[in-house]
Amino acid sequence: MGEPGAVARRIAGLREAGYEIEQHPHLGYRLISSPDRLIADDILSRLPERRRWVREVMVFQSVGSTNDMVTNLARDGADAGLTVFAEEQTAGRGRLGRRWQSDPRLGLWFSILLRPGTPLAEWPRLTLWVAYAVARGIREYGGPQTMVKWPNDIYASGRKLAGILVETSLGRNPFATAGIGLNVNHPCFPAPLDTTATSLRIETGAPLDRNGIAAAILASMDESFHLIDSDFREIVAWASEVDFLRGRWISATAGSDICEGEAEGLDENGALLVRTAAGKVSRLNSGEVTRFSITSR
Ligand code: BTN
Repeated sequence: MGEPGAVARRIAGLREAGYEIEQHPHLGYRLISSPDRLIADDILSRLPERRRWVREVMVFQSVGSTNDMVTNLARDGADAGLTVFAEEQTAGRGRLGRRWQSDPRLGLWFSILLRPGTPLAEWPRLTLWVAYAVARGIREYGGPQTMVKWPNDIYASGRKLAGILVETSLGRNPFATAGIGLNVNHPCFPAPLDTTATSLRIETGAPLDRNGIAAAILASMDESFHLIDSDFREIVAWASEVDFLRGRWISATAGSDICEGEAEGLDENGALLVRTAAGKVSRLNSGEVTRFSITSR
């Protein structure tokens, strides 16, 4: 595009979409602000050109659950890295069948398709990798230092900032759908959530550009996925440093088993080590921590 009329039309289109653009008679156009809307092209344009596998990004205004969308697209043969964002989810779900509240435009509600080449026995590693990649993306964007509550929550200032739901589909072409719910621009949470939930805005004191954070997280995922196979120790080392549960008395479910004891850290595969009152150490490869003490020892 070079023709002045075409540029003016494009600018008019961008203004209509919510971009604030200043026009100077000699200097040309200047972008003042972007709309508070997720825009696939905007996210894609901020990803490194030479990236490994995160290529396709879709944005929907309202869907049931982005995990369901990605899972359906995966069954139709979509490539690994396909990412679906929704401004709003009407049936967003969390772990243990809980509902995930997905307020329109306040967060990042998205799912990414994973087709790991590693043996299925290593797939429980995926959740901790997602936490690692998300936490790193947040930091790289200038967000707060976070902690991981094994295996799938990201905490900041002792409150939940993000949740991760990895669902696997086995069969001839097994794949996993990783869903992430990240609270971004919530100015506050109503009681009783206010004592347990936080957002990037609450932590940093200012609203953030969701397209920018989305791109930082996807870039971090693109760059670090190979660690699952090549150097999972790096992810475990990170998780051990920012381990929210270490030293807390916890209750965890693993399948139909319930395990109670003090969280003692992670093993080299990212399994949670729990020392029971009888002194026995249990190793949880996957599971849910349903309760934990407020203070750590
Ligand atoms: C949890 O903390 O229990 C996990 C929450 C995961 C929520 C995300 S939002 C995007 C994706 N779609 C869903 O329905 N759930 C995940």
